[in-house]
Formats: sequence, C-alpha cells, structure tokens
Amino acid sequence: MNIFIDQASQFTDKTVTIRGWIYNMRSSGSIAFLQVRDGSGFMQAVVSKSEVEESIWNIVEGLTQESSVKLTGKITRHPKQDDVFEMQVESVGVFQKSEEYPISLKDHGPDFLLDNRHLWLRSKKQWAILRLRDVITTAISEYLHQENFIRVDSPVFTPNACEGTTTLFPVPYFDLGDVYLTQSGQLYAEAAIASVGRCYDFGPVFRAEKSKTKRHLTEFWMMDAESAFVEHEENMDIQEGLVKHIVAKVLSSCKKELDILERNTETLQKIVDKPFVRYTYTEAIQKLNELGSDIKYGEDLGNDDEGMLTKDSDVPIFVERWPAEIKPFYMKRDETGKIALNNDLIATEGGGEIAGGSQREDNYEELLKRIKEEDLSEEDFAWYLDLRKYGSVPHSGFGFGLERLVRWMSGVQHVRECIPFPRVVNRVKP
Ligand code: 4AD
Ligand code: MG
Repeated sequence: MNIFIDQASQFTDKTVTIRGWIYNMRSSGSIAFLQVRDGSGFMQAVVSKSEVEESIWNIVEGLTQESSVKLTGKITRHPKQDDVFEMQVESVGVFQKSEEYPISLKDHGPDFLLDNRHLWLRSKKQWAILRLRDVITTAISEYLHQENFIRVDSPVFTPNACEGTTTLFPVPYFDLGDVYLTQSGQLYAEAAIASVGRCYDFGPVFRAEKSKTKRHLTEFWMMDAESAFVEHEENMDIQEGLVKHIVAKVLSSCKKELDILERNTETLQKIVDKPFVRYTYTEAIQKLNELGSDIKYGEDLGNDDEGMLTKDSDVPIFVERWPAEIKPFYMKRDETGKIALNNDLIATEGGGEIAGGSQREDNYEELLKRIKEEDLSEEDFAWYLDLRKYGSVPHSGFGFGLERLVRWMSGVQHVRECIPFPRVVNRVKP
C-alpha cells in the first residue's frame, strides 16, 4: 500500500510503500540510513545489509542524492524521539538514479541558489516556505468567505495605472497600442462590489520599480479586498481580523514548517491574542522623531522607520490618516481635504509594510478633480468614474502582498525566497 510520509503514524508496524526522493544518506557498510522526502514530509529509512537480499543492498549502495525511489518496509517508532517514525526497508525500487546533484547540504551563495531555483525548491527550508505560503493563501480565503466576501478576479492587462504611472510595465497589444500589466486589481474590485457587495481578488501584480531591497519584487501576488458600506475604521478592523486569522492558522497548521524555519512562535501567539496598535501618521512621525529618526512630516516611512516604530511592539501597527498629497488619487479624504482616510499596516519583527488600504472617494466631482490634478486620462478612467454615477456608496478596501506575509511568518530575510520563482530587477530566470 502506498502512503505519504505524513501518514506514517497511522501505519506503525505495518508494511507500506513510500515514493519519494533521497535527500541525504550515509552507510556504515552494514547499515544504511536513507533520508527520504515525498512532499508531505521527511523520514529516515533504515536498510540493514543482513536483512535484505544482496541485490537490494547493491541498489542501496549505488543510490545518489535526489535519486527518485520507491521504498517498501515496516513503519516503526523512533527508539528515542516521540512522534518520529522510521521505515525498516525490505525492498527498494528506483525510478531514476540522479546524476551528481549540484546543491549539496552545505551552504551555497544566493546567486548560485537562485540560478538553481528549480532545484533549490526541494530544500527543506524552501519546502517549508512553499507550504507556509499555501496555508496563508488558504487562510485568507477562509477568513474572507466567513466575512461575506467572494472571490472575483481582476484582469492583468489594463489600460489604467492604479498605483502611479512611474512603475508600469507596458505590453504592446495588437492594434490597440500599449496596455499595462496590472499594479493592483483594486479598481476592478470596486466595480464588482456593486454586484456582490464584498469581494476580493488574488493574483500576480507587477511593479517596474528599480528597488533592490529585501522586500521588493517586480512580480508579486496581491490580494485586494473591497467592501461596500464599509468606512475607514471598519476597514482596519477587517484587516486586523484577517491578520489574526492568518497567524492563528499558521500556528495551528504549520508546526513542522515553523520548526524547520526556526521561527519564534511565542511572538506569533501575541499577535493573535492582543489588539493591534493604531497611530495616526502625525503620531507616528512624532514617535519616530523621539526615537531618533530624522523623518519629516510629509515623507513616506522608510524601511528603518518602520523597523524603529514596531521594534518594541508585540503586535502590528496601523499607521493611518496620511497626508493626502503623498497618497493615490482614489483615496477619500477627511473633512479638511488634506488627510487621506487610509492606512498602512506594519508588521512586527522587521516584517515592514504588509498591507495598505483606504476608504475610496465615492463622489463623482471630487474624483474627477483628482484624476485631472494627477494628469490621468479621463477617458481611460471613464468606467471607474461611472461607478460614482450609478448608486455610489461609501466603500473601502485594502491589499496584502502575499510574499510580505510569507516573509514575516517564515522569518526569512528576503522576499525572493517567498515566491516559487522570483522576479526582481536583475533576474527573470529560471
Ligand atoms: O500599498 P500598495 O501599493 O497598495 C495597493 O496597491 C492598493 N491598490 C491595495 C488596495 O487597497 N487594494 O500595495 C499593497 C501591498 C503592500 O502593502 C505590500 O505588502 C505589497 O502590496 N507590495 C509589494 N510586495 C512585494 N514587492 C513589491 N514591489 C511590493 N509593492 C507592494
Ligand atoms: Mg503601500
């Protein structure tokens, strides 16, 4: 019977088959220890020369790292460690004997690993990150459905800039001239809420930003959520609930993965238990100045500022109500007209900005004025303006960068490890 490694505990003392890859191996000449992985987990398989036929032993002796195999044997409990199971191998089949594998278990430089990303994905840490990413994705849709959102996806080819015209990737589009790869599906989500009330999209977005930081990709995954009849404060409540749900889900479903990543789970638990901190932008600037930053009112928070602000906080911090002039045209403003009803959400432990959101301008005249002020094409935005003509409602939304969440939850330094095949300024391969 074929089983997955993560089912091994249910098959103690039974003879079963595992299909996978040899991760590592050593042999004393009479006993071989094969570290095998099958996607669901990792396990040690033990082969005793005296217990198997000579032909089997010869196969085992010839195995190489990453050979793909089928191992049959009895599942036993590890003599010393709880919850650890092994296989006492009786027979071995080989799908393919691997050529000499370029990635050994010792350290390699980042460029080498990135060039070999198609193979690097198999490493234990990368396996854990891929699994974490999947759990985070699932947790997001779980929470949003629970809160009455449904998924409505946005297009990737767009005529409009959502997040400023300086970071667009143009694509020649038949006879229609250049179109752009989307920077965020938000504007389309705003259209969809008039049909379904609350929705979210989840897909790749693109930013032609020449930032070579540990947090920037040129292609990343964004989840934009949007709700009708929700205003600024409630918009933050939804973001807070979502983050708590994600963290709780990661803690309950990713014990193995967090262990491999050596992630501190005590700090994660606090995020679930405590309310998040909310500072206005003005308060945040004051605090930062007190802490020694030379940031001035009207400037964006840099990486260091975000780190400084959250350094002693157990929970993520909302920085809300920014000067409208440094924020996009679509954000609704407060009664002074100078402050946007928006927020950034800054993660703990150096996680930086994980989400941005705002209430949206729902008044036709105001929005038109903003579009003109920013020199955006009235024609291209005609459809977006339409939404303010036919049953406009107060509404708000936010966007989370998936890789930023994965980076924060996993504790890895660089966002390029948080997406299967990263695209950054100087890399589009493999
Ligand atoms: O703050 P941003 O630019 O907001 C928007 O695009 C809004 N339209 C979202 C909305 O309201 N629906 O981007 C949202 C999030 C950021 O907080 C960050 O997590 C992530 O997207 N992000 C990036 N992640 C990786 N690489 C980049 N270059 C990123 N730029 C933004
Ligand atoms: Mg932002």
